[in-house]
Amino acid sequence: MKGLVLSGGEGTRLRPITFTQAKQLIPVANKPILFYGLEALSRARIKDVGIVVGNTHKEIEDTVGKGQDFSLNITYIHQEKPLGLAHAILVSQVFLSGEDFLMYLGDNILKEELSPFKERFEREKADALLLLVEIENPSQFGVAEIKGDRIVKLVEKPKVPPSNLALAGVYLFSPKIMEAAKRIKPSWREELEITDAINELLKGGGKVIFKRASGWWKDTGKLDDLLEANRLVLDGLQADIKGRLENSKVEGRVKIEENAEIINSTILGPVIIGRGCRIKNSYIGPYTSIQERTLIDKVELENSIVLQESEIIRIKGRVSSSLVGRGVKIIHKDNHPKGLSFMVGEKSTIEFRD
Ligand code: TTP
Repeated sequence: MKGLVLSGGEGTRLRPITFTQAKQLIPVANKPILFYGLEALSRARIKDVGIVVGNTHKEIEDTVGKGQDFSLNITYIHQEKPLGLAHAILVSQVFLSGEDFLMYLGDNILKEELSPFKERFEREKADALLLLVEIENPSQFGVAEIKGDRIVKLVEKPKVPPSNLALAGVYLFSPKIMEAAKRIKPSWREELEITDAINELLKGGGKVIFKRASGWWKDTGKLDDLLEANRLVLDGLQADIKGRLENSKVEGRVKIEENAEIINSTILGPVIIGRGCRIKNSYIGPYTSIQERTLIDKVELENSIVLQESEIIRIKGRVSSSLVGRGVKIIHKDNHPKGLSFMVGEKSTIEFRD
């Protein structure tokens, strides 16, 4: 069985971060989201993995390489434009070479292991096995209509959902999906939808089964979901302090990497602080991930993700639920005249809350 990881796409919902960075490489608990999926495939002993890439291919190739670090053998597949998940399958035809495959959305993270899916798919000789998650309001997702242990139909973003079971980002397919994907037409949003391809498979008598997710699952395509994924992963963090503490208090599960310095500060876990960071005169609260070489001084920060080499200095009020990009500076100066001064890029969001 082969693996197919989808890491193209536009990431429009995470702009401006995704203007300059692949969304699959945004860190969750200081590790790129994509690595969680690659590690899961490797643990399921799926060795040959194709990564579908788009505009951000160079950054992904530079970061993941040939896959040695994951004990994988990686092939990059170029998708000219993000024309849909079924289109990503079509452009991967040569790589897939008529084999069964596990397709994994590169911006998804899930708690459970992939090998039980693989084993069940092989045992049941299905044409598709889909991971489904129970969602209170599934209208924003692809939703499954089920009968017994079979899926009979999928509906994309239904007004009246046929069930509360939504498609999560893990799919196992037999080669029949390729022919089904070739038969479908683009949807209203000009994409070849995976739900249409699976419905086409069903029309041709294909056996489509499902497995309910047993742990948590997160699609990190939006800020709230990204912060929640960060919280879920940090909940499993092991305390480990390699950096230097000076006149500081550290409580709970806190990981501080080499060459980081924590001075006159309080850190309340779960928190991860990357190599070479300097945290001074600050409070870092639960569910915060700070990437390497970031400087934080006189700040209260919690439930946030801060990317590398940023500077956050002298902020009045607590900073929370934030995603701060690479090399960003957020600074309070005591200069006159008083007022606010910004140099903010396209599609940035700045919120003031009293
Ligand atoms: P989405 O999150 O559905 O799409 P997107 O990345 O374009 O994001 P947005 O809606 O915010 O613009 O994609 C799910 C995953 O699949 C993600 O890792 C990107 C990848 N993908 C492809 O590789 N090719 C595609 O044609 C599409 C649509 C997505």
